[in-house]
Amino acid sequence: MRVLGFESSCDETAVAVVEDGHRVLASVVQSQDELHETYGGVVPEIAGRAHAERIGQITDRALAEADTSFSEIDAVAVAHRPGLIGSVLVGVAAAKSVAWRLGIPLIGVHHVEAHLWSGLLEESSPPWPALGLVVSGGHSSLYRVDAPFRCTVLGRTIDDAVGEAYDKAAALLGLGWPGGVRVDQAAQHGNDESYQFPMPNLKGRPLDFSFSGLKTAVRYGVLGLPGTAIREPDSLSDQERSDAAASFQKAAVRTLIRGLRRARQEHPDVQSLLIGGGVSANSRLRKELQIFAEEEGLALRIPPMQWCVDNAAMVAGLGWIRLQEEGPASLSLAASPR
Ligand code: KG4
Ligand code: ZN
Repeated sequence: MRVLGFESSCDETAVAVVEDGHRVLASVVQSQDELHETYGGVVPEIAGRAHAERIGQITDRALAEADTSFSEIDAVAVAHRPGLIGSVLVGVAAAKSVAWRLGIPLIGVHHVEAHLWSGLLEESSPPWPALGLVVSGGHSSLYRVDAPFRCTVLGRTIDDAVGEAYDKAAALLGLGWPGGVRVDQAAQHGNDESYQFPMPNLKGRPLDFSFSGLKTAVRYGVLGLPGTAIREPDSLSDQERSDAAASFQKAAVRTLIRGLRRARQEHPDVQSLLIGGGVSANSRLRKELQIFAEEEGLALRIPPMQWCVDNAAMVAGLGWIRLQEEGPASLSLAASPR
């Protein structure tokens, strides 16, 4: 079965064609980084307008790359929640019009759950049940995933997402935007013992995360405490930036691994580990996840770089299994910010 997937929740416009949930025939992702760079973050109105301008052409490209015509598409999947509402609406409108015009099933999938499918693209399904970790600019969530794909949330961030913490730390250190990858690069040359940044524990909520304190610790630790001489990010040397980036990254990654370790203790029957989201591109996180999975005897499914970021292949893949589990959605499927 060939599923056409649409993804437009944030600042990537993406369309993909995936066969039987795993085989990616085409995955086209157009980033909007250049439109938002000067603002230091995603501007929702600009994002929505760019999706609307680009989605038709990107759909044509995906079909051409997959060497597939509309008549060979069997179903349409769309990430209909959560996201910037003006952006999500563009993908939902596109998906509905294709489904209606071709008379084929429409499937709505949850964007964050779709990230967990990204490690299953071009891979076999792992043994179930699995632990899932989605780490992105908007989410840091731990899941238990039972076969074939029933997701139960075990924990989530109570404040900033880990990607958001990366982006904010990058801004504080004068590394620019998009922040995650720049912190990752700067950290390669830094000493991670330079600063002792916190790994907050939430009383009575061992599987939830909090990352806003980490950002504050970077501000105070690197730029100075309130009431003292505060340094400007521009005044930091490259070495100071790298040391702070490495120390920040150690605390962020260790907090995530600690969460997984605790979830594993509470769910000793899990056999696999599914990872997804933009931060799963992080070099240190990838290394530490390999070690953790090996120590715990878990099958690790972590996406290759191109599917760490938002993409539509993960949406089409998850859509395929959802269609079998739940059947199609109605054409009145709602777009939702949550
Ligand atoms: O999944 P994604 O593309 O979009 C959301 O759904 O949020 O994730 C984007 C996030 C951004 O916060 C970005 O800074 C972060 O992923 N990111 C990284 C890296 N590459 C992207 N964070 C840490 N290290 C990286 N190499
Ligand atoms: Zn995402």
